[in-house]
Amino acid sequence: MTNDTQVQAILQATAAHVRTVMEQDSSGHDWWHIHRVWRNAIRLCEQEGADRFVVELAALLHDLDDWKLAPAGDGKPVRALAWMEAQGVASEVRDHVLEIITQLSFKGAGVANTIRTLEGRIVQDADRLDAIGAVGIARAFAYGGHKGRLMHDPDEAPQFHATFEQYRNNRGTTINHFHEKLLLLKDRMNTDAGRRLAQERHAFMEAFLAQFHQEWGDADH
Ligand code: ADP
Ligand code: NI
Repeated sequence: MTNDTQVQAILQATAAHVRTVMEQDSSGHDWWHIHRVWRNAIRLCEQEGADRFVVELAALLHDLDDWKLAPAGDGKPVRALAWMEAQGVASEVRDHVLEIITQLSFKGAGVANTIRTLEGRIVQDADRLDAIGAVGIARAFAYGGHKGRLMHDPDEAPQFHATFEQYRNNRGTTINHFHEKLLLLKDRMNTDAGRRLAQERHAFMEAFLAQFHQEWGDADH
């Protein structure tokens, strides 16, 4: 059994490691995204009474092997696994964290969420809160720029992605990403506290989109 001093040492070392790896990212998945998710996850964890070590470790490691960013793109959490092994994390904690990381990501509007445990639901809510609101808007455009996407094309309609394959291969505009994912999140939150925070951020995105289309002049398009 890992004692509290060991737990804190592992979490501090993990934060430092993730910070080094993700510091230079310009796709909206930099260290400060991880930091915000970590902080929000702790807040939700306190309200929900979940296993805090699992929640913190999963929050810190959740994007290290992201399919959108990892070169192989297959989403297998090999870096997270290697790190936890090197830190001597107990196998039941390690397996739980790996399961959360694998199932956390949004995989398309029509794809069911398979997150299974309270700890997973908390980290997923914390990650989703960072995808919406003012920060979410900023991250979406950072990601679009990073991937060479158009901000908006009034002639291109949003798509409904029934499978992960369709979602993953999509090259759509950032404005369409709001309709394909970001605006859907508020109704897909897992925890009450997460749902409350999501409402406010959702309203801000709606206001942003209304203003964006008004300035663009395609409100009736
Ligand atoms: P998830 O694992 O659910 O995708 P992440 O923490 O990896 O969550 O962050 C996803 C963020 O990346 C989105 O919220 C968005 O800001 C950005 N993103 C992903 N796909 C797109 C896209 N097609 N267009 C614009 N932004 C995107
Ligand atoms: Ni994330």
